[in-house]
Amino acid sequence: MISARKESLRQALTDMLHHQQGNHGWAVFHEGLAELAASERSSALDEVLSAVWRERPYISDAHAISLLGASVRHLLLQDGAPAGVFDAGTPLKERVTVLADLLHERHAAVVRLMDGRSNSYTGARRFLLPQLVIGAFAEARGLDRVRLLDLGTSIGLLPRQLNNEVVFDRFAGDLRWHPAAPPFRHIPLEFVCGVDRPPLPTLEWVRTCHGPSDYYEQRFEEVLWSLDRSKEAEERVLLRPLDLLDSAALAGLLKAFRINVVTCNFVLYQYAEEVRRRLVETVMGALAVPGMLLVMDPSHGLTRMGCTVHAYRDGGTEPLHIADVSDAHFVGDVHVRAGFGALTG
Ligand SMILES: C[S@@+](CC[C@H](N)C(=O)[O-])C[C@H]1O[C@@H](n2cnc3c(N)ncnc32)[C@H](O)[C@@H]1O
Repeated sequence: MISARKESLRQALTDMLHHQQGNHGWAVFHEGLAELAASERSSALDEVLSAVWRERPYISDAHAISLLGASVRHLLLQDGAPAGVFDAGTPLKERVTVLADLLHERHAAVVRLMDGRSNSYTGARRFLLPQLVIGAFAEARGLDRVRLLDLGTSIGLLPRQLNNEVVFDRFAGDLRWHPAAPPFRHIPLEFVCGVDRPPLPTLEWVRTCHGPSDYYEQRFEEVLWSLDRSKEAEERVLLRPLDLLDSAALAGLLKAFRINVVTCNFVLYQYAEEVRRRLVETVMGALAVPGMLLVMDPSHGLTRMGCTVHAYRDGGTEPLHIADVSDAHFVGDVHVRAGFGALTG
């Protein structure tokens, strides 16, 4: 079982190494990890993975790899240790040795981080698409009150950014829509809530989840700028700890707050297929009608750039293909698909 699972993880690692974005910040770490997994010193890695798979059987390979990277980075930053495992200038052989030693010596700390946290990377530009799609849906369905829940919200950036035209205008110009962007519409938000796994992710953890590169430093600056510009929304956005795998608790919350719009961005890829299906069924079974669930996920796990956008409406579990985005950081092109017309027609 472990060897089959490890083989699948190694394949995912190989695919991630060929990511079109090249050295996006994690590639050096992934290279060392792949080399370690294939080496005679792989037992330290095997022991970490076995422990994590026992605790989190549904974790996807892409998530296990990215979470391991963030956990190692967290420990190195905390200890002030030289971050050789992320440095392309350090010879590969040395990186492998440093990583093997760290996984061996800090086994308990790495496993604790990987059990207790998730990759909570959040992007300042991601709300651009939900803003326009939810606005179009509310308009088409005559909704004069939107009660929104953001699942896997991380630090709750999207709930704060919605309807903020200053933040929207800064980023919208870098995203080209084909054939055309829906107009910006104010969403009639009556209630906004975000939930994430307890303990709620901190800004410091989110920073750790950004790759060690100038590219990711810029993305993180955008997060900080957005938080600053949407300060006034802080008071009206409710953030709650909730484990989405607890279907009864999730359904209870949706009903208690009479939610009619749910967003779930870059969360489901972290799980096996059966968990994703269960989550969609739970949400659609408890969502008010008219209502919609909007799901954005990386294309092909984390092995290719881009993301796909699907929606579900009015209790149905049949996905509508809304759009494809060329870059999951929402710079580039959005291709609107037929499902958008079905959702808003
Ligand atoms: C990659 S982040 C995406 C954050 C945000 N939605 C965005 O797109 O910018 C995924 C988030 O989903 C959360 N998550 C994963 N599994 C969860 C669960 N079982 N319950 C609640 N939140 C979960 C993680 O903690 C993490 O903060």
